[in-house]
Amino acid sequence: MKETAGGSVPKWRSRTLTLLVLAFVANTVAIYAGLFDGRRIAPDDAAMRGRSLWQAHNCQACHQLFGLGGYMGPDLTNVAQDRDPDRLRTFIRYGTGRMPAHPLEDADIDALLAFLGWVGLHGRSQVPAEHVHWTGTYIIPNRP
Ligand code: HEC
Repeated sequence: MKETAGGSVPKWRSRTLTLLVLAFVANTVAIYAGLFDGRRIAPDDAAMRGRSLWQAHNCQACHQLFGLGGYMGPDLTNVAQDRDPDRLRTFIRYGTGRMPAHPLEDADIDALLAFLGWVGLHGRSQVPAEHVHWTGTYIIPNRP
């Protein structure tokens, strides 16, 4: 760190530091005072039930949400926005050669889709295209 003659810190540095500290304090106060709470999207009852079903049926063992979960199936963060709901119902109910069938009640499948729809409201998961195999599963890069 280069200092000015006499060893004092240049003004712009102390000003920047003061500004950053003030911004940090203001942000902390805003968060704890709940100023940003209105931006949160509360899940409705169907989405909450879907979340329980998602956990009870261990969907996350094979699927990811925002990059977290198993790697056998595709990331489902935005699937409810991107795909036809009937396609999703068919996948869930009948499975495929690799995905097990989940013969659930219609209402339960709707709840799972409500949950996935709610998940997708929070942003897009960014799986690099080169990590997605043409079958939809992931290619896990070999790390040394
Ligand atoms: C044993 C692993 C496994 C489990 C458990 C599993 N899946 Fe899958 N799922 C897969 C695989 C693999 C695919 C891709 C299937 C294919 O293309 O043949 C898939 C595909 C899907 C798709 C279609 C995605 C698309 O791109 O259209 C949906 C929706 C889906 N799964 C939802 C679920 C839900 C909901 C659960 C829990 C009830 C679940 N899966 C449990 C492995 C699994």
